[in-house]
Amino acid sequence: MGRLLTWLLLFGLAAPVGARAEDGHEAWLRYHPLPAAQRARYAPQAPVLVTGRASPTLDAAVKELRLGISGLLGKAPRASASVAADGAIVIGTPSSSPAIAGLRLNLGGAGKEGFLLRSMTVNGHKTTIIAANRDIGVLYGAFALLRRIQTGQAIDALDITDAPKLMVRVLDHWDNLDGSIERGFAGASLWRWQTLPAYRDPRYREYARLNASLGINGAVLNNVNTSANSLTSGYIEKTAALAEEFRPYGVHVWMAPRFTAPQEVGGLKTSDPLDPQVRAWWQAKVEEIYKAIPDFGGFLVKANSEGQPGPQDYGRSHSDGANMYADLLAPHGGVVMYRAFVYDDPGKDWHIDRVAEAYRIIRPFDGQFRDNVLVQEKEGPLDFQPREPFAPLFGAMPKSNLAVEFPVTKEYTGQGVDLTYTGFMYEQIYASDTFAHGPGSTVAKIVMGNYGQKLTGSAGVANIGNDRNWTGSIFNQANWYAYGRFAWNPESSARAVGEEWVRQTFGNDPKAVTTATDILMTSWPAMMDYQAPIGLTFQELDGANTHYGPWPWLDSPRRSDWADVYFNRADAVGLGVDRSHTGYNTAAQYNSPLKEQFDDLATTPEEFLLWFHHVPWDYRMKSGRTMWEELQATYSHGVAGVEKMQQDWNGLRGKVDDERFQAVQQFLVMQHRDAVWFRDASLAYFQTFAKQPFANGYQPRYPLDYYKKLPPNMAPPE
Ligand code: GCU
Repeated sequence: MGRLLTWLLLFGLAAPVGARAEDGHEAWLRYHPLPAAQRARYAPQAPVLVTGRASPTLDAAVKELRLGISGLLGKAPRASASVAADGAIVIGTPSSSPAIAGLRLNLGGAGKEGFLLRSMTVNGHKTTIIAANRDIGVLYGAFALLRRIQTGQAIDALDITDAPKLMVRVLDHWDNLDGSIERGFAGASLWRWQTLPAYRDPRYREYARLNASLGINGAVLNNVNTSANSLTSGYIEKTAALAEEFRPYGVHVWMAPRFTAPQEVGGLKTSDPLDPQVRAWWQAKVEEIYKAIPDFGGFLVKANSEGQPGPQDYGRSHSDGANMYADLLAPHGGVVMYRAFVYDDPGKDWHIDRVAEAYRIIRPFDGQFRDNVLVQEKEGPLDFQPREPFAPLFGAMPKSNLAVEFPVTKEYTGQGVDLTYTGFMYEQIYASDTFAHGPGSTVAKIVMGNYGQKLTGSAGVANIGNDRNWTGSIFNQANWYAYGRFAWNPESSARAVGEEWVRQTFGNDPKAVTTATDILMTSWPAMMDYQAPIGLTFQELDGANTHYGPWPWLDSPRRSDWADVYFNRADAVGLGVDRSHTGYNTAAQYNSPLKEQFDDLATTPEEFLLWFHHVPWDYRMKSGRTMWEELQATYSHGVAGVEKMQQDWNGLRGKVDDERFQAVQQFLVMQHRDAVWFRDASLAYFQTFAKQPFANGYQPRYPLDYYKKLPPNMAPPE
């Protein structure tokens, strides 16, 4: 026994700090003790917390600082009413804290939700100030200070004012009332409708806290393909319970309303948005909601899209639909996020080009939406594909409030399997120049309201479920993190945000930080190469309908524009869709000089070549290779990227705890297998059109027929 104890002690003590088994539940709010040298740097600065009046949000801030400081620095801060020693952290608003009020700080730049972090001498003592105009700003400031400590930054000469650049920063959950999640890959829904409102799962608060640490201030609870039942009184009561759990953390609840709810649960004969009875029904519903949830965020609406009901079913327009909700929500301060993800004209199949539809259908309404409507457009013109140019609508609705919708869940970009960092995509899209107001009018600047928009926002389609680690894999947490940080500041850098996440998630070991950040930054380009080389779209909407895996041969019995063959157009001449003036002319939806650039094969950036053009197999690429050769090289480059990620990760054995190390390692094995599958199946198919031999080393492992017969979700063995 004695010997066993000795062994246990020896091995326990010898294990590196980071090597404790971890299941990922703490996510990035992982306040494990910093190494002694780092701790010494912060310890003298954090022994006392000076607070003022209490409120649920201020209490959350105090609780977080206690938890964070005692966890990271190993010493719980004492509470104090005034500054009487060096190292105090003084927190509050001018109205909550006499100490803050006495400092007469200029809080103008902090706005409603921002904060100020400053190192100051107060009563002759060195202090750190976290001040804001409102309680929520104090909470955000507390998280910001802790993040600095966690990521090894100095906190002794702070002079920071930071405020969110977007007003509405919501996560959009595609969660159904039965607990399933559309396009969810991390278990079932977190919301346990059956046991609400009585039982308050502690995870509700934990979820809100993780959101608040990023500045996410809203959660749309139900799927955009919604059920009218969400609007019944029973569900409103359940929703109010969730709102109560989220409230201290500044997370407002939102709902996706079903357009035909007046008929389905209201017993009316119509849901015509201009019908007085329909409006009265919605008005009573909105009032019922605000009575139960006074800080309700608003409605996020999918209408006349993919079979969902909408105003056009009653001969009304999209603006009629959006404005009906907007008028009813306005007196309560509520907002409508009206999705531009529409490509249906009732009664018709696809119209011109699927990719052209949102612009064609929604743009004519520019200037007709109320001030509390955000027109919400997906980041690209199609549908969350690995690689799309930014949606041209962003450069074409100067009189509307435009919000961007980003995927956080990876429906088409690796789902619950691949390590692919969406932060890369957020940066690329936000940094794209629309030229709408001359050079430099990036998507970020438009969405941030630099050109006069009154209301700004973004929505991220959530990747969260009830898996222990929230997102199905450790690295998927980075995407939730990145979404929140980019919503706070759309001009963020993907690498900087990624590194911040890595440090918080895995610690500050220099090798671990550089390697894991490099892996994040390699991951998205690699995935684009093995799924969407040279701008090829992989859609796979119908047919196997897994939205994962290569099925380039699939046609759709239901809608021509739901088919892979529609998006790749492989034929004897070449590959890709002609969206230039000789084809659909969709390039013309962009502002000059982009429209001219995209219209011409020679000036289109090669990464979008097959998106905008039908390119001959023997077209000479900049590399000197033919398109067919380049295609093979690009797919393989993607596979090589995954191999590099695997090698790099393997080098972190011992630097990351075994549990998370192994989990990531196992996921990367699957990703490699599937990247090879993507390459081989796609090339086997395209070669039947190119009719040219495979270049050295690119011969697919199996014949085309083998891939065609694979059942959904069954990758070939490596
Ligand atoms: C995609 C996705 C659907 C979703 C839709 C939307 O098409 O496959 O599940 O409902 O986008 O964004 O509305």
